Amino acid sequence: MYDNNPTLVGIKKEIDESRQGEAFYQERQETSAEGATKHFYIESYGCQMNFSDSEIVASILAEAGYRPTRMLEEADLILVNTCSIREKAEETVRKRLRIFDKMKAQRPGALVGVLGCMAERLKKKLLEEEKLVDLVVGPDAYRDLPGLIESAGEGEKGINVLLSREETYADISPLRLDSNGVTGFISIMRGCDNMCSFCVVPFTRGRERSRNAFSIVAEATDLFEKGYREVTLLGQNVDSYKWENPENGKIVTFAQLLEMVALVHPTLRVRFSTSHPKDITDEVLYAMAKYDNICNYIHLPVQSGNSRILELMNRTYDRDWYKNKVRRIYEIIPDCAISSDIITGFCTETEEEHADTLSMIEYANYSMSYMFFYSERPGTLAARKYPDDIPLKVKKRRLQEVIDLQTQVSHRHNQADIGKTFQVLIEGDSRKSDQEFKGRNSQNKMIVFPKADGLQPGDYVWVKVHEASSATLKGEIVDRTEGSQG
Ligand code: SAH
Ligand code: SF4
Ligand code: F3S
Repeated sequence: MYDNNPTLVGIKKEIDESRQGEAFYQERQETSAEGATKHFYIESYGCQMNFSDSEIVASILAEAGYRPTRMLEEADLILVNTCSIREKAEETVRKRLRIFDKMKAQRPGALVGVLGCMAERLKKKLLEEEKLVDLVVGPDAYRDLPGLIESAGEGEKGINVLLSREETYADISPLRLDSNGVTGFISIMRGCDNMCSFCVVPFTRGRERSRNAFSIVAEATDLFEKGYREVTLLGQNVDSYKWENPENGKIVTFAQLLEMVALVHPTLRVRFSTSHPKDITDEVLYAMAKYDNICNYIHLPVQSGNSRILELMNRTYDRDWYKNKVRRIYEIIPDCAISSDIITGFCTETEEEHADTLSMIEYANYSMSYMFFYSERPGTLAARKYPDDIPLKVKKRRLQEVIDLQTQVSHRHNQADIGKTFQVLIEGDSRKSDQEFKGRNSQNKMIVFPKADGLQPGDYVWVKVHEASSATLKGEIVDRTEGSQG
């Protein structure tokens, strides 16, 4: 659900969260309604859905006459789209809010607003506690933003944290804010009906609901026509996507939706995130195998490799079930890459149980993982039922063991690609040099290679890999391709 960069092995999500905010700040383009006078600045944290939501917010604000800016100093409205997933994520936002408060002092009349999961979790408290903000708007209330801004401008605090059972923002065309013009994200559902005991998302995002399938296909088609060549379908649990067509009562499942989007154009790659091991079906795997442009990559978070811990986590699968899923994936899509999310030091976890997580990393042969130590979140099932009894030092040591092993496994995974040739979608210049391009293969691995004349972002090329670290693949172009991608 986040910037799924396989090169980020070993880097904790918390770091991602703050970096993503920076990147957003630095790379944002200015596009918007003509003749607008007021400017908004928006910074996003957390999962990719939040980044996607910020583009919906931008679209709503542009419609109301606001113009985006990347310069805090010229903003009349400073927004921060927040994440509550771990304590650290909230701390980062609180620090930013203090900085924004100082900016506000230099710019009388400017408003500061908190959007997203912290707004939903803390509600009025955010307005009362530190008095740093003027607006608090939850993830289902963004349509209300223009009205809330107006009342906040008149000195009233603006708050709407109502969750909805229907809102999917299906009709809103997102204003792509920090796009490379090649890869884009499409939200296909909102909320989550699972109740993983450690997780705050069901409380901050509300009930699961699926977006109109035709509006998803229309958004993918629109992106393709604008030159995009890859879309990632987003949801907390994409495999439980289920949309009933009100006209004929027919259900569209996730496997069917994948096919519909894959059929937009053979040169439009399709990815998706996140899959829940309990819900991913053979139909989805067969759809992936059938269409070359559905990428061979599945983010399949295991969380723990131990059945007792999985039960406490309320993940509804056990170690064997997960192993079977992994086997099935490699059976149906032999060259599929699988990645994971892992939590160390969950309530009552023993050393032996932790060792089961380590062995699962080996078994599943993850290409990469996002790894965290357990952070108790107020109000969750685990916070109410289980003691957060693993000392921080132990949680961190276990995390380090997980990171070290995953780094080795990723290294091995990447080494196995040396000598192979992959079709790569060029995303832009590599981070280190404007003489090199970067792009991903179907398995979501970033490959860096020297540029060649006449190629540009959005083109496909065949690249032969000759070097691999645990983080990146390096190679050179062996062929140029037009037409389909595989
Ligand atoms: N819907 C996705 C996960 C979204 S949250 C899924 O079900 O896989 C992203 C990741 O954050 C989770 O997979 C989990 O590994 C981690 N996470 C969630 N709550 C956490 C907590 N309380 N402490 C530490 N990590 C947590
Ligand atoms: Fe959280 Fe579980 Fe839902 Fe993922 S599936 S968002 S971990 S409750
Ligand atoms: Fe995403 Fe964080 Fe909310 S991970 S759903 S922004 S709590």
